[in-house]
Amino acid sequence: MSVVNIGLIGAGTVGCGVIKVLNQNSEIIENRTGIKLNLKTIADNDPLRKRPIRLPKKKLTKNAQDLINDESIDIVVELVGGTGIAKDFVMESIKNGKHVVTANKALLAHHGKTIFSEAAKKGVEIGFEASVGGGIPIIKSTQESFAANNILSIRGIMNGTSNYILSTMTEHGYEFDDVLKEAQEKGYAEADPSFDIDGVDAAHKLSILIMLSFGTFLNFDKIHVEGIRNISSLDIAYADELGYKIKLLAIAKSKEAGLEAGVYPTLVKKGTQLADVSGAFNAIYVVGDAVGPTMLYGMGAGMMPTASAVVSDIIGVAKHLSLGNTHPTTPRPYGSKGSSSLINMRETSTKYYLRFQAADIPGILGNITSCLGKNNISIESVIQKSRHLGGGDVPIVIMTHEAREEDLLLALKQIGRFKAITGKTSFIRIEEL
Ligand code: HSE
Repeated sequence: MSVVNIGLIGAGTVGCGVIKVLNQNSEIIENRTGIKLNLKTIADNDPLRKRPIRLPKKKLTKNAQDLINDESIDIVVELVGGTGIAKDFVMESIKNGKHVVTANKALLAHHGKTIFSEAAKKGVEIGFEASVGGGIPIIKSTQESFAANNILSIRGIMNGTSNYILSTMTEHGYEFDDVLKEAQEKGYAEADPSFDIDGVDAAHKLSILIMLSFGTFLNFDKIHVEGIRNISSLDIAYADELGYKIKLLAIAKSKEAGLEAGVYPTLVKKGTQLADVSGAFNAIYVVGDAVGPTMLYGMGAGMMPTASAVVSDIIGVAKHLSLGNTHPTTPRPYGSKGSSSLINMRETSTKYYLRFQAADIPGILGNITSCLGKNNISIESVIQKSRHLGGGDVPIVIMTHEAREEDLLLALKQIGRFKAITGKTSFIRIEEL
């Protein structure tokens, strides 16, 4: 039986999951592939830290160079995360002719072009199934199963933390800050959750899917990103009354004029597939011209689901090694819809949910609707709630027909100057699936 040697850098949650899967499923993997996966060395700068599993002491080192420079190691698994030292580990491994498996979405979103092109030069593979959607096989689906398609659109719930927060707010009527605090106390959300709740993590993942689906390495900073900090329980309740749920979606759509790409909260119709994805689950809805609509659903994070994806990449490389035909998995830039043709959000059109907070004085509703009308925004429906006891302000909720974002922003600016407007206006895009 052929043996493939593996070096693992980073024995955190996912690293421990990888060690566990390799141990518990070694027999089934060997029977399936005819290959023995030998986890030879584990590098971690804090080996004594409390972990969900016991680390095999003989394999441990504090120095990642021990495995990067070990000639017998075929595959380096990078699970350090971030774009700092992790980049050095990956580049040095490639330089030493090692195949690399990584779950690092930030690294690929910012430096994918360099990493893939160096890997191609050295003839080594980069496995990155775990970088998007945790255990969901979206990378291989996009690279292989959808390869015959012109991809028309991708819409996904790609961040479990923010989906958990929005689902809990929806279910219990809680406010964002309270749910975030609870999620942190329970260990669901990171101590610094900003990448998750500000949409950055989902945007990293989206840029990887754009690279695979549209053949273009986007400049990450050009992607429009909004998070969920400003979503209130009031908006969730009104959305519910109107037949919608609020979800943080990562969206990429191929249009005549270029590519529309962004991460932002959206209203999605209740009963549609994405609306029903709750808790920490992820789902990615891909439409191809031949296959039509498809959706992949599963655990987007966590020790074992993410380890499942990492080990699947290790197995993929190991199979190629045992057949003697490894091939760089470099996503080829072929698309014309690059950063230069990324459509500015101001030029996009969609329907909108708007909530104004206004003093309940005669004529205010008319003034708002007439300002919207003057800016080419047609109204689909209006809800005006009665005053709260003792309060003089009322929420006015308006659903628009499809409108240009530039027109909407101008109208909101003008309405914001009305004396009767007493609070911040919410505007949330509506995504029709
Ligand atoms: N923090 C991410 C999430 C998982 O909450 O989905 C890793 O990308």
